[in-house]
Amino acid sequence: MEANSSSKWSSLCIILLSLYLQVIQCSVTYDKKALVINGQRRILFSGSIHYPRSTPEMWEELIQKAKDGGLDAIDTYVFWNLHEPSPGNYNFEGRYDLVQFIKLVQRAGLYVHLRIGPYICAEWNFGGFPVWLKYVPGISFRTDNQPFKTAMQKFTQKIVQMMKDEKLYESQGGPIILSQIENEYEPEDKLFGDAGHAYMNWAANMAMSTDTGVPWVMCKESDAPDPVINTCNGFYCDYFSPNKPYKPTMWTEAWTGWFTDFGGPVHQRPVEDLAFAVARFIQKGGSFVNYYMYHGGTNFGRTAGGPFITTSYDYDAPIDEYGLIRQPKYGHLKDLHNAIRQSERALLNSDPTVTSLGNYEHAYVFSSASGGCAAFLSNYNVKHAARVTFNNMQYNLPPWSISILPDCKNVVFNTAQVGIQTSQVQMLPTDTKMLSWETFSEDISSVDNDKTITVAGLLEQLNITRDTSDYLWYTTSVDISSAESFLRGGQLPSLTVQSAGHAMHVFINGQLSGSAHGTRESKRFTFKGDVKLQAGRNRVSLLSIAVGLPNNGPHFETWNTGVLGPVVLHGLDEGQRDLTWQKWSHKVGLKGEEMNLATPNSISPVKWIQDSFVGEKQQPLTWYKAYFDAPKGDDPLALDMSSMGKGQVWINGLSIGRYWSVNADGNCTGCSYLGTFRPVRCQFGCGQPTQKWYHIPRAWVKPTQNLLVLFEEIGGDASKIYLVKRSLTSD
Ligand code: GAL
Repeated sequence: MEANSSSKWSSLCIILLSLYLQVIQCSVTYDKKALVINGQRRILFSGSIHYPRSTPEMWEELIQKAKDGGLDAIDTYVFWNLHEPSPGNYNFEGRYDLVQFIKLVQRAGLYVHLRIGPYICAEWNFGGFPVWLKYVPGISFRTDNQPFKTAMQKFTQKIVQMMKDEKLYESQGGPIILSQIENEYEPEDKLFGDAGHAYMNWAANMAMSTDTGVPWVMCKESDAPDPVINTCNGFYCDYFSPNKPYKPTMWTEAWTGWFTDFGGPVHQRPVEDLAFAVARFIQKGGSFVNYYMYHGGTNFGRTAGGPFITTSYDYDAPIDEYGLIRQPKYGHLKDLHNAIRQSERALLNSDPTVTSLGNYEHAYVFSSASGGCAAFLSNYNVKHAARVTFNNMQYNLPPWSISILPDCKNVVFNTAQVGIQTSQVQMLPTDTKMLSWETFSEDISSVDNDKTITVAGLLEQLNITRDTSDYLWYTTSVDISSAESFLRGGQLPSLTVQSAGHAMHVFINGQLSGSAHGTRESKRFTFKGDVKLQAGRNRVSLLSIAVGLPNNGPHFETWNTGVLGPVVLHGLDEGQRDLTWQKWSHKVGLKGEEMNLATPNSISPVKWIQDSFVGEKQQPLTWYKAYFDAPKGDDPLALDMSSMGKGQVWINGLSIGRYWSVNADGNCTGCSYLGTFRPVRCQFGCGQPTQKWYHIPRAWVKPTQNLLVLFEEIGGDASKIYLVKRSLTSD
């Protein structure tokens, strides 16, 4: 009896002790200088790695590379539309295994910043919202609207509960030190007036009420109510201060490059400028920097948002799309982190004394009895180097640069002096052959079937597809009397079609007659083209294509997609004929999609045709399939799709994503300069396809007999699709 009660006491003691230890050991708070983890102020470097933008097989190595690059934390959004594809049905498997991802980060000894959103922007389809959310009765996104708030709260609580169940918050001994609610709400907050403001306050309170034991942030929301921390996103954040003097200065998105859109240039951000921006932020008192993106990865499947965001989300990040280290970006930032790490105690224990050393030159000195002395010497002149005197010593400062002196004497790092070799990336040919090509043609002569909606007029695309497919067919018929025939005075009739976006192909009597598409700047477009009509009945079929749903902008859930008209024929005897309000049939998706043509061993009645001359035909609306053996080794793989037009591609039934060989045009200005000297952002690749290579994760291929399937909308030479290996060499 006695022994029993003493053992009861000792277990109670253990519980109390561990509770006590948890109180003092496992907590995250903040003060004006920094996040305080287990009683310690910390300067933290973090990097965004979005788990669904790579594969679980890649995660461990990506996280390890991030750690080796000097990061303390990994940041990820949570992708609602992946996790809840239909209301109440959840998916956290495979690439969507958020818990596993966080546990791998924990195992590597890093922290996590979990950006729940659940609005996330992120160049992700519908900004992360499931499309069904738009169809909840009475809903209005991201404002003081009960149906929206109910859904948002339910998902947020679900994620928080999952994390708690797995003991993943720092307050429970786990790696999550920080969480985000909403995302860059400030523009909407201003625009939506009282309703916006009420919603923002509600979101903050709702987040707080989940009681995670770690702080919440709102990025780009200067009104974030206490105790939520408002944080900065941008290329530079040195101008930023939090809304209360007792909150730390945090930069949740330091943009390492930029995303690309089909038809736009490829962006680069020189690391000298990025390192300068980060050092400048730290010298002004910043204590948390998250690189967006540290590894951008790939928008597999139809996850890219936009519209027009490319399948690649490389972002010019320190780790490239394929998981390879990008030098000198990675190494120079690593050196920067080391230099700041050496200065950390001084930075966290004192406020800087700022002294002018010249017109553009300053010394920021952090000095305290407990923290020693660290100094940042800066030169903001974009053109000229400077020689300055500091503590009776002479220092050379290159233009637009900051030197870091962790002991107030010796320079260990200068942002403009890069001592890392540039990595040379090559896409090397492999001897892989695509074997036994077969094709299947989308027959559009029989579009009318029981799955067709026929009405007078044109219907909005998303309302019909609910995003189950990119494709919607709009079909109507046009009767032409033999008198007006198809040639009037040598002039063909012409057709104009106005579309709300995003791309469209016009078929007259089954023949491709022309195509048109919008751009990221203006997704609406008008198709104008001559059409070959015949006497009698003609069939006009418009294939409208969504190229990723919008991810940004006030009430983007109300934006239209598809052919909304007018649709007008010109040059007939009668003049023009408006087709807008005649009978149109609407058919969602492709036959090949319906029959799961991309899935290996799918049982379908489709008769694939063996095609040894696959390159010669270049037909529109064609499905292709072939088999290949994987090249040996573990170099990352890609498909060179530049011989093809536009479509989607799958390997072994898994969607690599959308491809589109549209050339980049617009402002390919090379680099834009600060003053005339320092490149801050660069654009390349005009006159060539924005994206030529499409990442095939190694985990998706087996040694032999891999199934490649693609659907081509316009026409291309499939015999010139090559498998390449990405490999790195140093110069
Ligand atoms: C930010 C946004 C991110 C991402 C980024 C651009 O404004 O918060 O989610 O969209 O822009 O890549």
